[in-house]
Amino acid sequence: MNLIASPATKIHGDIICPPDKSITQRALLLGALQNKDLKIKNPLLGADPMSTANALKALGANIDISNELVFSENNQGLCSPASSLDLGNSGTGLRLLMGMVAGLGIDATFTGDSSLSSRPMKRIIEPLSHFGAVFRHNGFILPIQIETSSLKPKFSYKMPVASAQVKSSILLAALAAGSEVTIHEAIQTRNHTEIMLKDFGVKIEVHESRKGNDIFLPRNQNLQKKEYDVAGDISSAAFLIAAALLAQDSHLIIKNVGLNPSRVGFLDVIQAMNANITISDRVVINGEPRGNIIVKSSELKGIDLGGRIIPNIIDEIPILSVIAAFAEGKTTIQNAKELRVKESDRIMAVVEGLENLGVRVDEFEDGLTVYGKNINKKENIEINSFHDHRIAMSFLISSLGIGKQVKVLNAENISTSFPDFIELMGFLGFSIKA
Ligand code: S3P
Repeated sequence: MNLIASPATKIHGDIICPPDKSITQRALLLGALQNKDLKIKNPLLGADPMSTANALKALGANIDISNELVFSENNQGLCSPASSLDLGNSGTGLRLLMGMVAGLGIDATFTGDSSLSSRPMKRIIEPLSHFGAVFRHNGFILPIQIETSSLKPKFSYKMPVASAQVKSSILLAALAAGSEVTIHEAIQTRNHTEIMLKDFGVKIEVHESRKGNDIFLPRNQNLQKKEYDVAGDISSAAFLIAAALLAQDSHLIIKNVGLNPSRVGFLDVIQAMNANITISDRVVINGEPRGNIIVKSSELKGIDLGGRIIPNIIDEIPILSVIAAFAEGKTTIQNAKELRVKESDRIMAVVEGLENLGVRVDEFEDGLTVYGKNINKKENIEINSFHDHRIAMSFLISSLGIGKQVKVLNAENISTSFPDFIELMGFLGFSIKA
């Protein structure tokens, strides 16, 4: 699907933030593992969580999907599926579910779409194998089979890559197996799994020090939850905020945005770039902080980014790069090599997209430099999103900065994380059409 964005001068409105993808995925997995009555309110009904929900149903979970996700007990518990589990485009669904399946001692084969089938799974297969899981695969990519496994009673792992998916996969494996686990992460990654486990009654401990975090999960933990409410997704809010910053006369209020400190780096960065944003009405629900964000049009300046903040802003780097194209001065992003193994090679995709907009940009192995307000305006702008939701949304928004129509190719995967993107943008005064 190709989409055309037409420039607008105002982004005006008062909206509720779309639900968080990472949190919905975790709530689905914990709900299936708990296998008792549970209601998940305000879930993201995007294609990624739906892939996870369908895989869990194939394992025997009773999930009724409407505006809410309602779990009820299945007396047989979870068991091997009749056919392979297709996780579509969802890296989080796949990696977390592989951990859970390994812990349950279930035999299952995993598949996905062409993007997911080219993403690295060694980061999951290696630690889970040391934990006792048995895999069949060809070169650490999909399709991957987990054979009936019996995990060790105790396992400890020092993470070589800053990845919340790896951390969560090991935690879910341990939880499902009833094993004890200790995980060391040198750099803080998103901690929704730890927070949700605590909220579900699990005695998980996190010890923070200058050397990083040690996460300890004792053996034989039980889940106990009846109702859970999903916070808004700051990664989706980032696109709405960017639209308001780039349009000339904006006033946008976004309510119920998730403000977990391991995810709010984007707000810190744009504030340092001079963005006019205010945060109000902070509350904590189910352990996750949230609040309202007010955004006005802003004259932005460039920034240099690298080091420990990168995992915190990893999903926002494409939209930050687009914002940087319309900020005064240079923006450099380093230490972000992980971007090359996301739904697309996001460094390549962003660099190619910015060049097609007429923006001067330098590419490095682990990042890029964007030369702001240095635009050689072009006619008939066409950008390839490489079937990547965040690349597609980032470049549709670039139309507001450049003041011209922008056509984005292969944008169908916006539905994985933000199914109401086009409708919500239309409501705010920004027209995007097929
Ligand atoms: C996610 C973790 C991040 C992020 C992804 C969602 C999660 O990936 O990019 O969109 O829900 O745990 P990594 O764990 O690979 O950094």
